[in-house]
Amino acid sequence: MKSVRSVVNNANAKMITTKITAGFASKVGAILAVAGSAVGLGNVWRFPTETGSNGGAAFILIYVLFMLILGVPVMVTEFVIGRHGHKDVTHSFLSLSGGRGGWRWMGLLPVVAGFLVLSYYSVVAGWTLYYAFEAGLNGFAGKDAAQYAADFAAFSSHPVWPSVWMALTVTMTCAIVALGVRRGIERGAKIMMPLLFLFIVVLVCCSLTLPGADRGLTFLFRPDFSKVTGQTVLSAMGQAFFSLSVGLCCLCTYACYFRKDVDLMKDGLKVATIDTLVALLSGLIIFPAVYSVPGLQPDAGPSLVFITLPNVFQQVFSGVPLLAYIFSLFFYLLLVMAALTSSISMLEMAAAYFHEEWRVSRPKSAVGVSLVCLLLGTACSLSFGLLAEVKVFDMTIFDLFDFLVAKFLMPVGSLLMCLFVGWVVDKEIVRQEITNQGTLRSPFYSLWFFLVRYVAPLCILLIFANELGLFGFIQKP
Ligand code: PFF
Repeated sequence: MKSVRSVVNNANAKMITTKITAGFASKVGAILAVAGSAVGLGNVWRFPTETGSNGGAAFILIYVLFMLILGVPVMVTEFVIGRHGHKDVTHSFLSLSGGRGGWRWMGLLPVVAGFLVLSYYSVVAGWTLYYAFEAGLNGFAGKDAAQYAADFAAFSSHPVWPSVWMALTVTMTCAIVALGVRRGIERGAKIMMPLLFLFIVVLVCCSLTLPGADRGLTFLFRPDFSKVTGQTVLSAMGQAFFSLSVGLCCLCTYACYFRKDVDLMKDGLKVATIDTLVALLSGLIIFPAVYSVPGLQPDAGPSLVFITLPNVFQQVFSGVPLLAYIFSLFFYLLLVMAALTSSISMLEMAAAYFHEEWRVSRPKSAVGVSLVCLLLGTACSLSFGLLAEVKVFDMTIFDLFDFLVAKFLMPVGSLLMCLFVGWVVDKEIVRQEITNQGTLRSPFYSLWFFLVRYVAPLCILLIFANELGLFGFIQKP
């Protein structure tokens, strides 16, 4: 027998679906799309790199803590804002603020952020596509360690090829976004996310059987708190933001397409769980593999994925070239899919604005945003070669974009959204959104609201104070 709650849920969902122009067709589709945005290079590339250079398990524990007290609460805040407006982000801020205090200008955040983040992210996504292509051609076989480093340096500083691979990823992203929310974004996530999991599971199984895998596991799971510094704490916080895609209104944009019967709190937790699981599983692929080659350490920084790992894959499977081939190919395809599901959400952030606010058709909007990103992305790409000497505030163009997004826009955006939902929006509206008009119990509501009102803003302000150098006790390495 159907419960009263589910009947009300269905009725609500029906009422709203008649109002919206685009939306995810199913709850699973919505979760997979948001998880697709969250799971990306941040999990498979940035997380192992950060864990490697911040001492392993202790970093992971702090990271998980920040996911819970910062990442998930801000994510749910974005869901509340996005779903309430049910159209686009500008509309959401406008209707929730009642037009007061200039909050509607927050609708521009996803546009600016979308351009910036996609421009530099697609450079690295392009590298992964090239590496998948190379792996497919068995191009990593028969080289020595120095050659991998030289090849990567030559490729990333080349004046043309990295930009071509970047353009390819942007084109693929554009094609999916142009197809629309259901036929493009949701269907893409429904195909790519299960494939991504399959690849991860196969790779983890292979990696765990390697000799020396236990040392990788120890590194990943035995915390050494003597390695924790203030910088570790800050890195963990930054990683939690980046990995969950919070603070740029990207999740607000997706939440505009949610049905009214989506449980925002539960789905936020589900996405965070998937995201953390993928990050940990990526660690389970990478660290046992790295430790199984004598003399290699996992703290290689960003070069880990493009220099250390191709070498590792060839060396650990040196007796069985077919396995080396399959492992490399699967790994880089995994990276390509992870990057693609995230870059889709980045393009959608900006494209949705022009589509909804300027009434430009979806394909035209997607192509227009992509063209601008191609220009900016080329500048980012060339900052590893021709434009390496062009510095702004002592940073290359790529580093500047990364800094603006990860160190500035994400925390500021998160802070503003917490202040907005915690202090500006009518509490009753917030409760109605979280409890789906009173049809859900939401036992964590009060805790979440407390975190959004006090804890998250305070933590973010502390990061900024530190960035401004107000705390001598947090040492930068
Ligand atoms: N969360 C993505 C990752 O881990 O790779 C990156 C990301 C996606 C950041 C979307 C920001 C964003 F709006």
